[in-house]
Amino acid sequence: MEQRIAVLTTVVLVAILLGTFAMIARSASSPGNAEEVAANAARWRRNTFWALVILFVPAMAWSLTRLPYPKGDDTQAIVITATGHQWSWDIGSANLLVGQSVAIQVTGADVNHGFGLYDPSSRLVAQTQAMPGYVNVLRYTFTAPGTYRVLCLEYCGLGHHSMMAQLEVAPAAPAN
Ligand code: CUA
Repeated sequence: MEQRIAVLTTVVLVAILLGTFAMIARSASSPGNAEEVAANAARWRRNTFWALVILFVPAMAWSLTRLPYPKGDDTQAIVITATGHQWSWDIGSANLLVGQSVAIQVTGADVNHGFGLYDPSSRLVAQTQAMPGYVNVLRYTFTAPGTYRVLCLEYCGLGHHSMMAQLEVAPAAPAN
């Protein structure tokens, strides 16, 4: 779905661009005095400006309602903290289960780090910045059991590559 929207958007933008080039080429080849040319250019700029406003303001309003981030409701979530240090992670312990949503409060103790959560097959599944003096809440629901790894995603000095931590996620508790 998202890919189709991206393709459609690209096609529309390219069409607008080609139309613009065609109009410029046509107006450049038609004879006319300088005043006429200037007046045409001003009218064209004005029309294009309002056309873009009419096109993009609703498009942006619509796309902003579709941000792919979970809502900030942590009442059902396990809250754990994760602090990036040069060069290690300090992550609060918790019993993590598949299907359990977690809210990871990520911050940095010294410089900016990048908190990257990798699933057992080493796929990046969630990430946020670990910034000194600020807490970013990363919300995630584990979908598979196993050993997840946390790696630093932002170069933070000589030991950057050694910033690794592990989270064990157990299979979902059987229903009673
Ligand atoms: Cu911390 Cu790179």
